[in-house]
Amino acid sequence: MAEAVEPGVVVRPYRASTDFRMVLDSQGDLYELNFPRFKATAEFRAEQAVRIRQAARRPYEHHLLVADNGQGAVGFIWVALRMDLQGLFGSVDQVYVAAPYRGQGVGALLMRAAHDYLDEASVPYARLYVTVANRQAVALYEQLGYRTVRYEMERSV
Ligand SMILES: CC(C)(COP(=O)(O)OP(=O)(O)OC[C@H]1O[C@@H](n2cnc3c(N)ncnc32)[C@H](O)[C@@H]1OP(=O)(O)O)[C@@H](O)C(=O)NCCC(=O)NCCS
Repeated sequence: MAEAVEPGVVVRPYRASTDFRMVLDSQGDLYELNFPRFKATAEFRAEQAVRIRQAARRPYEHHLLVADNGQGAVGFIWVALRMDLQGLFGSVDQVYVAAPYRGQGVGALLMRAAHDYLDEASVPYARLYVTVANRQAVALYEQLGYRTVRYEMERSV
């Protein structure tokens, strides 16, 4: 069981002026954890900075929420509204909790806030990609009701 969320941690909308740095600084960790052969470079960081700024300018398509402990952001979630052959869905593109705050319920708090947002927006499904080796994330998603509906498979050649 996750410990109780530290009192005072709230989920609020992303504010570029105070949260941009934390979200950008998390990108290397997030991608390297989830794509084991990937190495974050300065070019990658610059590209992510552009993506984050663009997302913040499109609040109807990209919804960013931040977990704030009163002293600043300790985690965030990024949900994009997308359409595919099966219709509209909310894509949980990124969820991240700063290492010292993990295992205290912050990730689950962010996920629930994202689900509430999708529910209010009448978006019928939430979907995400996760690397099998990322056990914490897989456990979090399964605990919140996510089920595997497609596999991405690879082999070395
Ligand atoms: C994945 C992540 C967001 C989880 O956030 P968190 O705040 O640590 O998660 P919580 O404390 O809310 O835990 C919720 C559930 O996640 C699972 N979980 C969290 N930490 C875990 C761990 N170390 N081992 C196993 N399961 C874990 C559990 O199911 C847990 O519920 P439980 O404790 O009641 O069993 C966080 O570990 C993280 O930021 N990781 C790096 C970024 C990342 O990989 N993001 C996902 C990209 S797909």
